[in-house]
Order: sequence, then structure tokens, then C-alpha cells
Amino acid sequence: MRAALVVLLLAALLGLAAAQPPPFRGFHYLLDCGGAASTTDSRGLSWIPDGAYVTAGEPLRLTDQGLLDPALATRRVFPFRPGAKFCYELPVDRNRRYLLRPTFFYGASPSSSPPPVFDLIVDGTFWTAVNTTDDVLAGSASYYEAVFGASGRNMSFCLGVNPEYTDAGPFINALQVIQLHDSVYNATNFTSNAMGLIARTKFGSTDDVQRYPDDSFDRYWQPFPDSKHAVSSTHNVTSADFWNLPPPGVFNTALVAEQDAPLVLQWPPISLQNDSYYVALYFADTKSENSRTFDVYIDDYLFYRGLTVTSAGLSVFATQWVLSGLSRVILTPVSGLPPLINAGEVFGLFSLGGYTLPRDARALESIKRSLQNVPDDWNGDPCLPHGYAWTGVTCDTGPMPRVISLNISSRGLSGYLSSDIATLTALIDISFANNSLSGPIPNLGNLTKLQRLHLQDNKLNGTIPLTMGTITSLREIGFGDA
Ligand SMILES: *[C@@H]1O[C@H](CO)[C@@H](O)[C@H](O)[C@H]1NC(C)=O
Ligand SMILES: *[C@@H]1O[C@H](CO)[C@@H](O)[C@H](O)[C@H]1NC(C)=O
Ligand SMILES: *[C@@H]1O[C@H](CO)[C@@H](O)[C@H](O)[C@H]1NC(C)=O
Ligand SMILES: *[C@@H]1O[C@H](CO)[C@@H](O)[C@H](O)[C@H]1NC(C)=O
Ligand SMILES: *[C@@H]1O[C@H](CO)[C@@H](O)[C@H](O)[C@H]1NC(C)=O
Ligand SMILES: *[C@@H]1O[C@H](CO)[C@@H](O)[C@H](O)[C@H]1NC(C)=O
Ligand SMILES: *[C@@H]1O[C@H](CO)[C@@H](O)[C@H](O)[C@H]1NC(C)=O
Ligand SMILES: *[C@@H]1O[C@H](CO)[C@@H](O)[C@H](O)[C@H]1NC(C)=O
Ligand SMILES: *[C@@H]1O[C@H](CO)[C@@H](O)[C@H](O)[C@H]1NC(C)=O
Ligand SMILES: *[C@@H]1O[C@H](CO)[C@@H](O)[C@H](O)[C@H]1NC(C)=O
Repeated sequence: MRAALVVLLLAALLGLAAAQPPPFRGFHYLLDCGGAASTTDSRGLSWIPDGAYVTAGEPLRLTDQGLLDPALATRRVFPFRPGAKFCYELPVDRNRRYLLRPTFFYGASPSSSPPPVFDLIVDGTFWTAVNTTDDVLAGSASYYEAVFGASGRNMSFCLGVNPEYTDAGPFINALQVIQLHDSVYNATNFTSNAMGLIARTKFGSTDDVQRYPDDSFDRYWQPFPDSKHAVSSTHNVTSADFWNLPPPGVFNTALVAEQDAPLVLQWPPISLQNDSYYVALYFADTKSENSRTFDVYIDDYLFYRGLTVTSAGLSVFATQWVLSGLSRVILTPVSGLPPLINAGEVFGLFSLGGYTLPRDARALESIKRSLQNVPDDWNGDPCLPHGYAWTGVTCDTGPMPRVISLNISSRGLSGYLSSDIATLTALIDISFANNSLSGPIPNLGNLTKLQRLHLQDNKLNGTIPLTMGTITSLREIGFGDA
């Protein structure tokens, strides 16, 4: 499912604020893609070069830098190789969940060729296609945001080359990796689902995108001006009272209905495809003595009946709410003061794409470690998503795919063959022909499905282990020098 493209105006990225607020507190790391040294931005956030997390791609410095945020002044550019995915390996805490926010900035002045369009993939799951065309025309950067659960010690974040879109390689300027508190968005089951941000809105705000140093997760809140209904508030809300921990600052503006009339908002701001969405709405009264009760509808459906809002604030959410096309949020008065609303979030929900059988994935990691000069896309899930397997690796299409063919012939490989290759028991084809492998040939007697084995034109020594004779399916063996 495609998550909506959210536009971030350059002005917001420039961060011209004179006073420097403290950086946000949550656990995070910020990657300056293509960067050569650590930098600190105008908010006091430090960005580190991405080189330690990615093996493919080349850094590129933008020529038209101007006043650009330092993290956007460089990007990493990956080759155009249809079907290849280039992954960042991001160390994470298993079973925690992470907000990933990549930013793409192709350049301030539109060039003659449109920007590349490509896929984003996390572990084995397709997230969204990235199309920055409209933002490039507007001179702005594009960011995307999603929340994924961590299933292992690394989470892979990948850019996938999809030749159906364009014929240029993917690129990325910045990647924010932010660990969320366990209570945030916790109504979603992140073992089976992930969420892609569609809108995060601060109602009544006319400013640029807002961020708050006391937001542990540095969320971006988009403005939603409406001069007829906007009010501001100085009342302080306690963030910790909300599972989603919204920063107190988002409650300092609101939209309020007129007396005895419903408040009708066209929100989220873009048209959505018919699907289930996570919807969270945030409310807090502007004065401590106030109270108001109202019903909340989304389109023609009752979302919450008789919501009583006080200055303590509250949020209501639905984990799987069906939205289709353009939607309206309608607050109809019941008693007390007219209805009001401060903020809202909508995420698209998508099912996780699964994982390669862990034993096969581990065997490939071990094979990778014993070789030098492996293909530059050997990171991330080896088989998934379908169509994005590692170069030279072919998998079956089961729910937990297995490796059925390894063909890495004529690729200038050196090193030795890990004996763990013998645990890839679904293998039908192996070819490492015409490389510079040395060392012994592992015992492959357990590969009972093997039909073709090509190891010729290497520097392997020893003989083919005798147990190979027990593989009845084996039809072709290439060995020795041609
Ligand atoms: C985990 O990520 C780190 C940092 O990117 C990387 O050095 C390491 O090789 C990764 N481990 C695996 C198994 O991919
Ligand atoms: C990217 O977006 C532009 C402008 O919205 C559109 O014309 C183009 O077809 C899109 N490209 C792809 C591959 O979706
Ligand atoms: C979500 O977090 C809150 C606050 O920690 C907790 O009370 C609630 O039970 C959690 N819900 C789920 C489904 O884990
Ligand atoms: C979450 O989804 C997984 C996989 O579908 C399931 O095994 C687990 O029971 C679910 N957890 C909850 C709390 O529903
Ligand atoms: C709200 O909190 C801020 C900072 O903690 C404080 O300066 C301000 O006086 C508080 N406002 C009210 C109305 O309590
Ligand atoms: C959305 O899809 C569901 C079934 O998938 C269908 O029942 C419903 O009528 C659709 N809604 C709209 C507005 O198209
Ligand atoms: C292995 O790959 C090479 C080059 O991509 C190809 O020519 C060869 O036919 C493949 N061999 C097998 C057994 O699939
Ligand atoms: C062997 O591999 C090299 C590159 O590593 C290539 O130039 C050569 O053509 C290959 N030979 C055969 C017979 O495929
Ligand atoms: C095979 O090569 C390894 C390392 O090059 C060497 O230690 C070993 O003695 C060789 N074995 C044979 C049988 O030549
Ligand atoms: C083959 O598989 C058996 C049973 O799983 C195992 O005990 C044995 O060690 C394996 N042999 C090799 C050479 O991996």
C-alpha cells in the first residue's frame, strides 16, 4: 500500500530560529546519507555519516546548496540495477518499535530529467513507492514516515530499484531512526502489521511544520489553518497522560465550533484508497474550568459518542477504521461549550511481508562472511519481498521462503565456501564457477535436492567429498579447471 507523500517545506528545514532549543530526548540516531563527517543542525541534533550502516552506493554533494540543512546537502546514490534492493542495516533493540523517517531532496532547481522513482522496503516488507516529482517542482524536500517493530538485532531499511517506474538509481539524503516508547501506537499489533504515516496535524496552526524539543520522538506536526475557528491556549497538558505521548505544545492551538453548530473538517487532507487506517484524535480544553461534551463522527459513522473533554485532555483512537476517498471529521455538540479539537494522526496499516526461513538466512550470512567481493546488494532479507532477492539468490514462493538456487558465477569472488552451505537443504542449483575461491569443498551430502553443482574454474583444492554420491538427484557436476 502506498503511504501518502508528505511535503516538508524547505523553510521548515532551514530552522532559522535564533534560540537553540535542546535536542529531543528519546533514543535515536540520525544518518546524514552520503555525509563525510558528523554535523549538528540548527536544532542541536547531531547527524552522523551513513557509511557504517550501508555497503552500496556513492556519496554525492549537491551543487545548489544555498542555506540547505546540512543533513540534506549530501545524498547517497545507488546504481540502477532492476530488482536490486540496497539496504541500510540498522542496529535496533529486538521487540521495540521504531519510527523511520527518510528524507529525499533531489535538488532545489528542477533539472531536465525527472527524479528517480523507487520502492522503500523494511526487512521483508514493501512499504511504499517514493515519488518526489511534485516536491522537486516545488523546490522542497520529501519525507516519508513509518513505524515498524524490530524482529531481530538489525532492522533493514532498503531502497528498491523498480524498472517499472524510471531508469535511474534510487537516492536518499537523510534517515532518522527513532525508538518509540512501548505505549506509543500500542493498540496496533506490530508483530503482524506496520504503519505508514498519512497525516499528523495540529489543528488551528498556521505555522510551518512544528517540532517540539520535549517530544521524545521528534514528530512533525503539519499546520491546519482555519481562521474562523482557530483558538490558542496557554494551558499545560501532561503528555504522560496519553499513551501516544503527544508533546504538550500541540495542544496550544485548537479549532472550536461555533455556538450550537457542528465543527466539520475535511481531514485527512488527501484522498485515500478504501482501506483500514489507524486514526487518533487529541483533545484538551483551553481553560481549566471548562468542560464540553460532543459526539465525534467520521463521515457518516459514529467514531465516539458523548466525549467529555476537560483541560486534562484525552485522545480517542481506532486501530482499523475504514476510510475511502476524502473524509470529514464532524464534531456535533451535546452539552456544555461547543466542540473543539487540537490534533490528529492517520496512518495506513499494512501487513508485514514475512521473512526468509531464519536457518537459510543464517546460512547465507555465514556464506557471505566467508567470501570477499560479494554483490553489493547482499544486505537485508535474502528472499523478500518477492522480486527483490539478493543478486544470484533464487527462492521459492512459500510463506517463509527458502533458497533454491545460488548462482554467483563469474563475479570475481574470493575467500572460501562456508560449510554452512550444507544447511541450505532446499538448494537445487549451486554455481560458483569462474571465481577465485580457495580452500576445501564442504560436505554437501545433506543437499538431497541438489541437481546441478558448478564449482569449476576456481582455486579450490581437495576432492569432492564422497558423500556427494548419495545425492540421487544430482545430474551435473562441474569441477576443476576448464
Ligand atoms: C547489523 O548492522 C551493523 C551496522 O550496520 C552491521 O555492521 C552488521 O553487519 C549488521 N549485521 C547483520 C547480521 O547484518
Ligand atoms: C510521479 O509523480 C508525477 C507527478 O505526480 C507523475 O506524473 C508520475 O507519473 C509519477 N511517476 C510514477 C512512476 O508513479
Ligand atoms: C498500551 O500502553 C498503556 C500504557 O502503558 C497500557 O495501559 C495499555 O494496556 C497498553 N495496551 C496494549 C494493547 O498493550
Ligand atoms: C499479533 O499478531 C501475531 C501474528 O499474527 C499473533 O501471533 C499475536 O497473537 C498477536 N498479538 C496480539 C496481542 O493480538
Ligand atoms: C506551562 O509550562 C511552562 C513550562 O513548563 C511554564 O513556563 C508555563 O508557565 C506553564 N503555563 C501554565 C499556564 O501553567
Ligand atoms: C470499501 O470496501 C469494502 C469491502 O472491501 C466495501 O464493503 C465498501 O463498500 C467499500 N467502501 C467504499 C466507500 O467504496
Ligand atoms: C548463472 O548465471 C549466469 C550469469 O548470470 C548464467 O549465464 C548461467 O546460466 C546461470 N547458471 C545457472 C545454472 O542458472
Ligand atoms: C570469468 O569471469 C571473468 C570475470 O571475473 C570474466 O571476465 C570471464 O569472461 C569469465 N569467463 C567465463 C568463461 O565465463
Ligand atoms: C587446501 O588449501 C589450504 C589453504 O590454501 C591448505 O591449508 C590445504 O593444505 C590445502 N589442502 C590440500 C589437500 O591441498
Ligand atoms: C546432515 O544432517 C544431519 C541431520 O540433520 C546432521 O546430523 C549432520 O551433521 C549433517 N551433516 C552435515 C555434513 O552437515
